[in-house]
Amino acid sequence: MFKKATKTQIKLRLALTGPSGSGKTFSSLALASQLGKRIAVIDTEHGSASRYADLFEFDVVELESFHPNRYVKAIMAAQQAGYDVVVIDSLSHAWMGKDGELELVDRAKNSFAAWKDVRPLERALIDTMLSCKCHLIATMRSRTEWVVETKDRGKAEPRKVGTAPIQTQGIEFEFDVAGELNWQNTLTITKSRCPALSGQAFIEPGREVADILKQWLDNGVASPVVNEIEHHYPPLPANTEVTTNINQPGIALTDNPNRDTLKRVGQMTGHTSKHIAAIMEANFPGLKSDQLTQLEVKTVVDVMCIDAAVANGMEQAIAQTTFNEWLTLQPQELGNEELAAQWMSKQVKF
Ligand SMILES: Nc1ncnc2c1ncn2[C@@H]1O[C@H](COP(=O)(O)OP(=O)(O)OP(=O)(O)O)[C@@H](O)[C@H]1O
Ligand SMILES: [Mg+2]
Repeated sequence: MFKKATKTQIKLRLALTGPSGSGKTFSSLALASQLGKRIAVIDTEHGSASRYADLFEFDVVELESFHPNRYVKAIMAAQQAGYDVVVIDSLSHAWMGKDGELELVDRAKNSFAAWKDVRPLERALIDTMLSCKCHLIATMRSRTEWVVETKDRGKAEPRKVGTAPIQTQGIEFEFDVAGELNWQNTLTITKSRCPALSGQAFIEPGREVADILKQWLDNGVASPVVNEIEHHYPPLPANTEVTTNINQPGIALTDNPNRDTLKRVGQMTGHTSKHIAAIMEANFPGLKSDQLTQLEVKTVVDVMCIDAAVANGMEQAIAQTTFNEWLTLQPQELGNEELAAQWMSKQVKF
C-alpha cells in the first residue's frame, strides 16, 4: 500500500492567501521562477498575470468558466506538457466564480442535495492538485471571518476572528505550506510542513523563501500517496487512540447535536449520509441520530475526522477543520477563543 518515499516525489503545494493588491500574483511568479524553469499559469483574472510578463517568463491559460473540472483539465494539461511549476491564480473562482461550486449549488432546487454532487468535484480538484507532478502554487482571495456572540441580556454581537481563504472551509490544510499576504506585501506563514518556514514572516517574498523551500524539498520526505489509502468505516482500528478534552465539565458542545450537524461535518470530511449511518451503526447499534447524546455525536464526528485524516494523510488538519465547522454551527456556544484553543489541543494519533 505504501511506497518508499523518494526525493523526486516531493513537489511543493503552496497556498498564498490575501486581499487584492497584497501580492498573490507577483509573489507566486517570483517564487515559481526560483523553483523551476518552465512555468504554467492558470489565470482566472482576465490576464492579470500577464501584467508581469516583462518581469517573469511563463505560459498562461485563461479560464472562462471556473467549473472545478476546468481547473482539473488545465492542471493535467500543464503536467502532461512537462511544466516545472503550475500557478493557479486564483483558486477562489472555483468556489465563488462563474460555474464555481457555490453557483452549481445555487442552480439546484435542493441545495443540500446538490452538495452531494458538488463535493466530489471539489475533492477531484483537490486530489488533482495534490497528486500533480509539478510544483503547485495556488492563490486565494481572503475574506474576514466573523462569529456571532451572545452578550449580556441575550444581545447578539458579531466579532472578527481573523481571515480565511475564499474556498471550501479548511482548504489551507491541504497544502504543505500556506501563508497570508497583507497590503504591505508581507507574507506570514500560517501553516507549514517545512519547519524552517513555520511562524515566519517575509517582506516581498521571493528568493529567500524559495531557497528555504528548495532546501526542504530536496531533503524532505513525501507524505503517503492519498489515493492509495482506502476509506474505511470503523469501529476504530485497534491501534487508534483518540484523546480530546472538549468534553470537560462546563463545556457545552451543543444542546441539540442532530442529524444536520453530522451531515455538515460529513460534507466537509467527504462522508455521505450512508457512510454516517454506517459509522453510527458500527459504534452505537440501533440508535438514530436524534437519539444520540452529545458525547455520542462527538464520537461519530471523531470517527469521521480520523477516517478523513487517514484517507488524506492528515492528522490535526481535519480536527481543526471540524472545529471551524462547529464554530459556524454554534457560534453562541463555541465562538470564543478559549474553546477554540481547547479543540485545537485535540490529539488524533495513529
Ligand atoms: N513579493 C513581492 N515582491 C515585490 N513586490 C511585490 C511582491 N508582491 C507584491 N508586490 C507589489 O505589489 C503589487 C500588487 O501585487 P499583485 O498584483 O501580486 O497583487 P494581488 O494580490 O495578486 O492582487 P489581486 O487580488 O488584485 O490580483 C505588485 O505590482 C508589486 O508592485
Ligand atoms: Mg492577482
